[in-house]
Amino acid sequence: MNWNVPVSSSSVEETERIGANIAKEMQKDPSLPPFVALYGDLGVGKTAFVRGFVSVISPQSVVRSPTFALVREYPALPRPVFHFDFYRIDSEEDLVSIGFDDYLARGGICLCEWSEKIADFLPAERLEITITKDDLSAPDHRVITILQRGKDT
Ligand SMILES: Nc1ncnc2c1ncn2[C@@H]1O[C@H](COP(=O)(O)OP(=O)(O)O)[C@@H](O)[C@H]1O
Ligand SMILES: [Mg+2]
Repeated sequence: MNWNVPVSSSSVEETERIGANIAKEMQKDPSLPPFVALYGDLGVGKTAFVRGFVSVISPQSVVRSPTFALVREYPALPRPVFHFDFYRIDSEEDLVSIGFDDYLARGGICLCEWSEKIADFLPAERLEITITKDDLSAPDHRVITILQRGKDT
């Protein structure tokens, strides 16, 4: 997968497949950061991406939006998946009260919707997935960019 070129998606299934492909890359390459920060407006397909990703790592799990719970956990070996959605987060106290640091310390794979809400608390090493609608005349079309950030970038 070429990480620097935006990928396009024409359907929810295609976005799920892109999520699944990133999960497979992560399984193959242990040097990839286990934190995936998702960006994009409401209804753009972040949860669809997570569904595809989790179908590879934790195939028995059903992915649902954690908007009200803020976090869902999907069991997997050797490490579970934590699925955050910070749409409704309002303060650092909220982050503390769900135990965000504890989740990070548990060594699972983290997927985080509305990462912009917790910009100051994201691990420096992460994958950033940005999903945008790019064509008003094609309502199912999306552009997905994948960026790997390290300590210095
Ligand atoms: N190319 C696409 N990729 C992802 N979702 C799409 C696409 N085209 C249409 N959709 C629809 O957009 C919605 C995305 O919902 P969801 O994944 O919950 O978004 P988000 O988590 O970003 O709020 C779904 O209803 C899905 O069927
Ligand atoms: Mg969502």
